[in-house]
Parts: sequence; C-alpha cells; structure tokens
Amino acid sequence: MKIFLTCKEGFEKVLGRELAMGGIKPLAQGVGWVMAEGEALALLPSQALCFAWDIFLDPCDIQAESVNGFIRALVDLFTAHLGAGKLEGAWPYSFVSFGDEKLGRFTQSLKERWLEALRKKMSRIARSAADHVPQGHGFVEGFFVVLTDFNKAKVFHKAMSQGQQRMKLDPQSPSRSYLKLEEAFHVLGFCPKEGERVVDLGAAPGGWSLSALKRGGVVIAVDNGPLREPVKSHPKLTHLQVDAFRYQPAGPEPVDWLLCDVLEAPDMIVGLLRQWFQKKWCRHFIVNLKLGREDPTALLALIRDDNKGLAAYCQSLCIRQLYHDREEITLMGTLKP
Ligand SMILES: C[S@@+](CC[C@H](N)C(=O)[O-])C[C@H]1O[C@@H](n2cnc3c(N)ncnc32)[C@H](O)[C@@H]1O
Repeated sequence: MKIFLTCKEGFEKVLGRELAMGGIKPLAQGVGWVMAEGEALALLPSQALCFAWDIFLDPCDIQAESVNGFIRALVDLFTAHLGAGKLEGAWPYSFVSFGDEKLGRFTQSLKERWLEALRKKMSRIARSAADHVPQGHGFVEGFFVVLTDFNKAKVFHKAMSQGQQRMKLDPQSPSRSYLKLEEAFHVLGFCPKEGERVVDLGAAPGGWSLSALKRGGVVIAVDNGPLREPVKSHPKLTHLQVDAFRYQPAGPEPVDWLLCDVLEAPDMIVGLLRQWFQKKWCRHFIVNLKLGREDPTALLALIRDDNKGLAAYCQSLCIRQLYHDREEITLMGTLKP
C-alpha cells in the first residue's frame, strides 16, 4: 500500500529514516512530504510516528489541461467515491500543497471552486463537508487533495492527522514558546485543570507558565533567568531561581504536571526525566527536546528503549515534532500510576 506523509520542511529524510525503522519503505520525497510503501496498519496506533504530521493512504493521480478540467476531474473522482457509498453524515476534506506560495494560493482557489461546483451538483452532500484532516487513532474516509503542481494532484480517500496544527499567539505571552505548549495540549487532548500543581522547568521568560496559569494551574517556575509580566507577579506563580537539575518537588504526592523546556542537550534532559519518572514526581508531562547535532532517530530509539529509555515508565507516551517546534521534538504523556 502507498502511504503519503507530510512533515516539517527539512525533516523529510529524518521521517524517511523513522519510517524505515518501522519497516515502511520510503520511495520518494519532496519539500514537506514523503511517499512510502508498506502496511499502513504498522503506523497505528498513531502514537507510533514522531516526524509525520498528516498521513494519507492510496493516492490516485490526476492531471488536467485547464483549471476547469481540474475541477471536473476532482468532482468526477468525488462522485465516483460517493457512488461507492463511502461517505455518510459529516465528512472531512482538505486541499494542501507545499513549498511554493503561488501554488498555495492556487490550491486555495481550486478548493473554493471545487466546493462551489459540488454545491451546484449536490447541495446536501456539500453542506456536510468539513475542511480538516481528522485527528485520531485511525484513518477516516473523506476527500483529501495534495497538489504537486498547477495541473497535477494526488487524491486520497483515507487520512489521519497526528494533531499538529498552527496555534494563536496570546499577545500577553512573554515568548513565542507559548505556542508549543498550546499545541501540545491540543495534541494530547487534555490540559491542567483548575488548582492542579504544575512545575515548569526552564520557565523564563514565561510563555509556558502563562499557558498553564490561564487554565487555572498553580505554577512553580524554575529558572535562573528573569520572568516577564504578566507571569512574574501572577498570584498563583512562585518563581524559584535554581538549577532545574537540582530542583526536587516538595511533598510526598506527585505534582500534576511536569513542563520542561530547558535549553540543554537532549541526553541530559532524558537523564533528568528518568529521575523524575523513576521517583514518580509527576503524573503528566510535556517536555521539549532540542535536537542539536543528535541523530533524531537514535534519540527516538533511546526514548523508546524498554530498558534504558523512558517508555517503560509511561502509561502513555506521545512523541511528536509539533508545527511550532523548530529543530526540536516534544514528549507528552502520563506516567504509570
Ligand atoms: C527556550 S527557554 C524557555 C522558554 C519558556 N518555556 C517560555 O515559554 O518562555 C529555555 C530556558 O531554559 C533555561 N535553562 C537552561 N539551563 C537551565 C538550568 N540548568 N536550570 C534552569 N533553567 C535552565 C534558560 O535560562 C532559558 O530561560
């Protein structure tokens, strides 16, 4: 089975290596995507891949001589799929392209014209359309189009998103790092509740702390550097100017959340996490790892290693390169009770 995966620009080779680790053979790549061959079920549960964003199955290639021809071909494909009785109730669709801004604008206008044509032809079906790739643990039926050129596209009827998406910056946030934690909460599907205890290691200038405070968390921010307002004098925040590698949470009960965005080599952070996990100092965790020169796939193997890694301590562990991550990945999950 052919599998088409999207990823962060510049990480196509890394995704190819990650796929190969899981027995899926990369066949080709372009800016922001990898085509591979293998058993799609090997990708499930969706927690299995770090560097993939959206995953599409079984491409159907179309080529058109004109924009009208393109729309006709898309509507025909859609109608044939509908005839096969695969779409019921609300159904998802998406149109994407990569790299070229002009192609991006063309893709958006093609999407609108295709929807328009669909409304004319089958208004009830068109009304049930929702513009997104569904996030979840399985592939969902829909109509998903990837434009590879102004007259070429790959069309898919099954897709799954691993949850990465662009978030909105709070103008009050002291840093853009805020976006990463907001996105991590979205991928994870839950976040701190009112009154939950949160330790934020490497907290300065305060974007992550703000994200936890806004949800009602009671935050201990650990960083030698200064925090900025509105985080600095928030009544539910305590700032400790100590080394994250020496800090230990007080009390016998685990804190509800460990957040960690410390600027340090990934093996150092994995060592720090091992200590937190062994001692059960937290229940849930979100940790950003800066990749640096480390081979990302070797780092993944280390984290997932049953003996030396972190997976053995976790009830759930999700490793993702988020939309807002740069040369970074994010670990999220819950420890075994
Ligand atoms: C990327 S910034 C964190 C940004 C923060 N999450 C935010 O949202 O504003 C990394 C932080 O790690 C802190 N850091 C680096 N080494 C540290 C250590 N050993 N202990 C505590 N903080 C450390 C730095 O002072 C810096 O503020």
